[in-house]
Amino acid sequence: MSELQAQLDKRRTFAIISHPDAGKTTLTEKLLLFGGAIQLAGTVKGRKAARHATSDWMELEKQRGISVTSSVMQFPYGEATVNLLDTPGHEDFSEDTYRTLTAVDSALMVIDVAKGVEDRTIKLMDVCRLRATPILTFVNKLDREGRDTIEILDEIEDVLKIQCAPVTWPIGMGKRFRGVYDLRDGRTHLFSAQHGGRIVEGEVIEGLDNPRMDEVLGDQAAELREELELVEGASNPLDLEAYRAGRQTPVFFGSAINNFGVRELLDAFVQYAPPPRPRNTLQRPVEPAEEGFTGFVFKIQANMDPAHRDRVAFMRVCSGCYRKGMKMRHVRIGRTIQIANAITFQADERRHVEEAWPGDIIGLHNHGTIQIGDTFTEGEELKYEGVPYFAPELFRRVVLKDPLRMKALQKGVVQLAEEGATQVFRPLKNNDMILGAVGVLQFDVAAYRLKDEYGVDAIVEAVNVQTARWVSCDDAKLFERFKDKNYEYLALDGDDQLVYLAPTRVNLSLAEERWPEVRFSATREL
Ligand code: G4P
Repeated sequence: MSELQAQLDKRRTFAIISHPDAGKTTLTEKLLLFGGAIQLAGTVKGRKAARHATSDWMELEKQRGISVTSSVMQFPYGEATVNLLDTPGHEDFSEDTYRTLTAVDSALMVIDVAKGVEDRTIKLMDVCRLRATPILTFVNKLDREGRDTIEILDEIEDVLKIQCAPVTWPIGMGKRFRGVYDLRDGRTHLFSAQHGGRIVEGEVIEGLDNPRMDEVLGDQAAELREELELVEGASNPLDLEAYRAGRQTPVFFGSAINNFGVRELLDAFVQYAPPPRPRNTLQRPVEPAEEGFTGFVFKIQANMDPAHRDRVAFMRVCSGCYRKGMKMRHVRIGRTIQIANAITFQADERRHVEEAWPGDIIGLHNHGTIQIGDTFTEGEELKYEGVPYFAPELFRRVVLKDPLRMKALQKGVVQLAEEGATQVFRPLKNNDMILGAVGVLQFDVAAYRLKDEYGVDAIVEAVNVQTARWVSCDDAKLFERFKDKNYEYLALDGDDQLVYLAPTRVNLSLAEERWPEVRFSATREL
């Protein structure tokens, strides 16, 4: 087997999706612990605190108690090399999260046993469904009182429209939580509360009818046997093909904070989750095992580390191999560039990578030429599909306190827009600068960063725009007429694409009716 094939076979690139507070951060930390990337749980939070101390921007994150950034971590687990793409938990940063999901091969869904399926999980699941992303489910916090487990599975099936296949089954819950039974091999893993700290392996009992079960579990052993009869009769058997096609989710139970059920989850994850899959470009599907290097950018982030005042473009490697110093073609601008210093984020630390394989994420230093959605190749004209921009739902005008800082403002706004968290629109009729975002918090972040990173004192104020649509038309003449008539509503986005800024929904509907030949699009695929 070629090295490329061997490397890609061991890659597992995934993201954790959940509603805030379900336990994503805790589980991430435990995955690192079990993977051996950190020695003692608690390190992730410790590092976070250290970062806060050195970065003003992170100060905002701390003040708000939310995670603004999304990071990438690579760690080994057994034979596998796992890439975990973290997604920001706050709903205001959903666009970033959605785009991150375009760069993974599978996802892990965390559900709080007391809360069941929550809003944000529904939205994230919708995005996963677009690409039929395979999903493993971890039902968390079994050490607390929660809802009936069968009811939770029913809810996942009904609300998320995906078949559940329980792989483990919990014995009791809350104070009566005793462990999990593994439906695959009939082994019971007993629970011992183990907050944080090191890995402790509890007792394992072989077989459901083992007298040791009754000895240890008392009445709960009989309860378990009864429940399992019900579960095995009513639920779907594990079907890996259905899982990989995104139709079925294998379900695990546990308690992340107690390190419980995490080992089973991780073992199953590296075993079941797919390695990098073929991906579509506008021209043709690309196999990961193709020798030619290809990749696409799904995220751009500025000033992650104040010591490096640069922007980093996150690129997912889709085929071939990246080697330090190689030349790549930046397809959109038609130029070949040499990449000497790509970075990776191994358990949160920047390191220069010598090579990267399909499924890996590398960070490229970006001085303004790279945009979200850009494709890189070794020469072929390819364009990866499916990295979306969404029409913002909230708009603000940026007003400068010191008019002499106009240049700095423009630079800052354009760079923030490149990252994709806010979008910038310049109306044709005046010199305004209008920011658009999906969540209101993004405006605070933008104002804060303009001041902190670009030294621009600006305020954001209300503006009479309710919604935006990208406009295009096949009939050039007619489009000219449309532009003429609608001059006052038109603007250019950060990429010089024409956008219709509607003051009201009614205005938009009227325009759509009046100009049936013109396409009004709520998303722009990059
Ligand atoms: P998130 O990233 O999905 O937002 O969730 P996070 O891991 O931060 O967990 C949210 C809260 O749930 C945390 O408590 C965390 O300790 C708790 N938690 C996570 N897993 C379990 C579990 O298995 N059992 C129980 N009982 N609790 C769990 P917190 O009080 O908000 O934060 P902290 O003070 O513990 O840091």
